[in-house]
Amino acid sequence: MAAAHNRRQPRRAYNLAVLLEGRVVGWLGFGQTPEPSPRRFEFGYALLPSVWGRGSMTETLEAALAFMFGPLGADLVVGACETGNTASVRVMERAGMRLVHTRSEAEAGAAREVCRFVMDRPAWQLVRGTGLP
Ligand SMILES: CC(C)(COP(=O)(O)OP(=O)(O)OC[C@H]1O[C@@H](n2cnc3c(N)ncnc32)[C@H](O)[C@@H]1OP(=O)(O)O)[C@@H](O)C(=O)NCCC(=O)NCCS
Repeated sequence: MAAAHNRRQPRRAYNLAVLLEGRVVGWLGFGQTPEPSPRRFEFGYALLPSVWGRGSMTETLEAALAFMFGPLGADLVVGACETGNTASVRVMERAGMRLVHTRSEAEAGAAREVCRFVMDRPAWQLVRGTGLP
């Protein structure tokens, strides 16, 4: 399914395997959201529990942000998770993303508290420390 999204043309989705010491330990996927702007991207990720807490997803997200703001020309990158998902919140904070809101959203008939983080291009340039486009 993820590979099929990767093969679509024009390409809008990137589903990537996370490797640690040569072993696939997780996934990070991101894609363009045609509305409201083709330069807006959203992402999601997950790792095997056996490798949690080693900084792997923070490092992976930083690399993915570099790819989105670099070669893919993103203007805005958005991530979301449940408010109680401390590890995911910390991954986005550590990568330099900013919390924009926390709100209740319905999914499959159940309400859940979701927080949404963003990074825009100026913030990315600050995080990168060069100020270059
Ligand atoms: C979210 C997830 C990808 C984090 O990956 P990770 O590589 O373990 O994260 P990092 O090692 O980069 O750690 C980032 C922060 O999360 C914290 N953290 C890691 N695992 C944690 C846990 N189980 N509980 C609480 N905090 C945790 C780390 O201590 C670190 O915080 P700190 O900067 O305050 O020390 C991983 O926990 C996961 O796959 N969870 C299940 C899937 C999921 O929730 N995906 C996101 C859905 S939106």
